[in-house]
Amino acid sequence: MMILIRLEKHELMSRTKYLLNVISRPCITGVWTQRCRKCSSRIQNRQDQSFSVTTPIFYVNAAPHMGHLYTCVLADAVARYHRLKGKQILFSTGTDEHGLKIQQAADQSKESPALFTTNVSRTFKEMFDCYNISYTDYIRTTEQRHFTTVQKFWTELETRGYIYKGSYEGWYSVSDEAFLTEVDVTEVVNKKGEKIMVSKESGNPVTWMKEDNYMFKLSEFSDRLHKWLDTGVIQPAMFTPIAQHWLSNPQDLSVSRPSSRLSWGIPVPGDSSQTIYVWLDALVNYLTVCGYPSLEQTWPADVQVIGKDILKFHAIYWPAFLMAAGLELPKKIFCHSHWLINCVKMSKSLGNVVDPMVVKEKYSAEVFRYYLLREGVPHSDGNYLEEKAMEYVNSDVVNTFGNLLSRCTASAINRDQIYPRKDQDTYISSITAADRETFENIEILIDTVEGYYQDMMMYKAIESIMSYLRWANGLVENHKIWDLAKSDQEADVLHLKCVLHLALDTLRVSGILLQPVIPNISERLLNRLGIPKDRRTFECARKPYLNSPELPLGPNEGVLLKRLKIN
Ligand code: ME8
Ligand code: MG
Repeated sequence: MMILIRLEKHELMSRTKYLLNVISRPCITGVWTQRCRKCSSRIQNRQDQSFSVTTPIFYVNAAPHMGHLYTCVLADAVARYHRLKGKQILFSTGTDEHGLKIQQAADQSKESPALFTTNVSRTFKEMFDCYNISYTDYIRTTEQRHFTTVQKFWTELETRGYIYKGSYEGWYSVSDEAFLTEVDVTEVVNKKGEKIMVSKESGNPVTWMKEDNYMFKLSEFSDRLHKWLDTGVIQPAMFTPIAQHWLSNPQDLSVSRPSSRLSWGIPVPGDSSQTIYVWLDALVNYLTVCGYPSLEQTWPADVQVIGKDILKFHAIYWPAFLMAAGLELPKKIFCHSHWLINCVKMSKSLGNVVDPMVVKEKYSAEVFRYYLLREGVPHSDGNYLEEKAMEYVNSDVVNTFGNLLSRCTASAINRDQIYPRKDQDTYISSITAADRETFENIEILIDTVEGYYQDMMMYKAIESIMSYLRWANGLVENHKIWDLAKSDQEADVLHLKCVLHLALDTLRVSGILLQPVIPNISERLLNRLGIPKDRRTFECARKPYLNSPELPLGPNEGVLLKRLKIN
């Protein structure tokens, strides 16, 4: 059990107690369904066979950076996890292409908004493809299908009496595309020594606006929003009070702007003098990808992944729009913190960004995925340091994971290139009781990792797997496999096989468990171990790989990962 010291209390319990604990706690996540009496009746639901996850759609005012990639890698890992559990996945991402911010960026680039947005949207898509983001839908808000959906959705809100003609006077931030009240803004002195008003939250400049537009009856939803937020739908829970705070001063929301000021967007149905507010337009993308208005199979989303900068739009505006349209609300909003550079938020507007395509060229996409999920902690901001990133990769993936594989598959040690069986008598006599207990409890690791993946605490899942791998590395060292490999004595041969079996099995399970994080490295590892493609699910990880015969390893395709040079 000593290798589990970094895990939490309930995971340190004995297996029996652990399972009992699982049975008696309320079931919130599907992983426990086989064991949880409370939800066994839900096994046939569509929700148990499919899983839907969304990311924000990103503004195309500039090229993508590490922050956008992080959100997508997080969503990708959870999608891959559920795919391995045999679920049908709907995973959407894409680009947000309307609004003043984009109109201005296109003007500056001296390109038409259509051409400008197409080019930048392509760079996002190419980056996500390079990083193996397994989205099933890539949506652009300039697509016809989205135009139709937004207009239908607007008409629905209007028909239900939630939109009225009004006027707005107040602050607007073009960078955030957000309306702000007096309490949301503050005066600062900019670099030129001028006094300007900025958003307290984002620090972006705001301008005073007075215009006729359409208003949405947001203030009618305060009580229902409060109740919904109380259910703990925002994860991690620390973000709930932040969202609740925005309900303290209920006001209606402006949902259109005069076309004379904003032409790059979707016109209000029946009134082309007004353009739909870009956030209403953007949020509806989550329904476009589901085929709104027919949503039975696809909505609500199981989880919507966002950064904390856009919490207000997803925790207040979005559920209010859905309530007004009579639709179900997302099951979970997973909010993560920000990547910083020199303690300042990385952002397209500031230009202080890390370009994932440069990182990919220098190192590799896969190791950067590993770093993002290993070091990215949803509840606190992370300061990016390239050296630290590469140290993680070197120590975890190269030293722990890669070295264990090379040791156990080296022809000098594993002469027959097999996945050896363990002789039971040798196992009892050569392996200590503590090591046997650890090995036999690998199912606890699988349960733990599954729980973390479900809760999207990827860094905890990775750390749990790494602690097991470190244990296996220690095992092969303690048993001096190099010495055992030099001996032809039957006892030594059996002893070596036994240690190799334990180490290879730890690698097999770890490789299976790491597939959502580093799909390519895991695949190469599992290929080398000779594990058939249909034996790589989490369920297979729980079962012994060998029945009676020893099986051959797969072909040697070289080192899993070379040590990265930090420069
Ligand atoms: O807000 N750290 O688009 P956007 C971590 N179009 N994540 C970061 C980040 C950072 N430094 N910077 C950006 C928009 N992100 C709207 C969304 S959704 C209907 C419309 C990620 O291009 C994070 O997910 O400004 C954040 O919420 C998102 O990119 C904002 O991207
Ligand atoms: Mg932004």
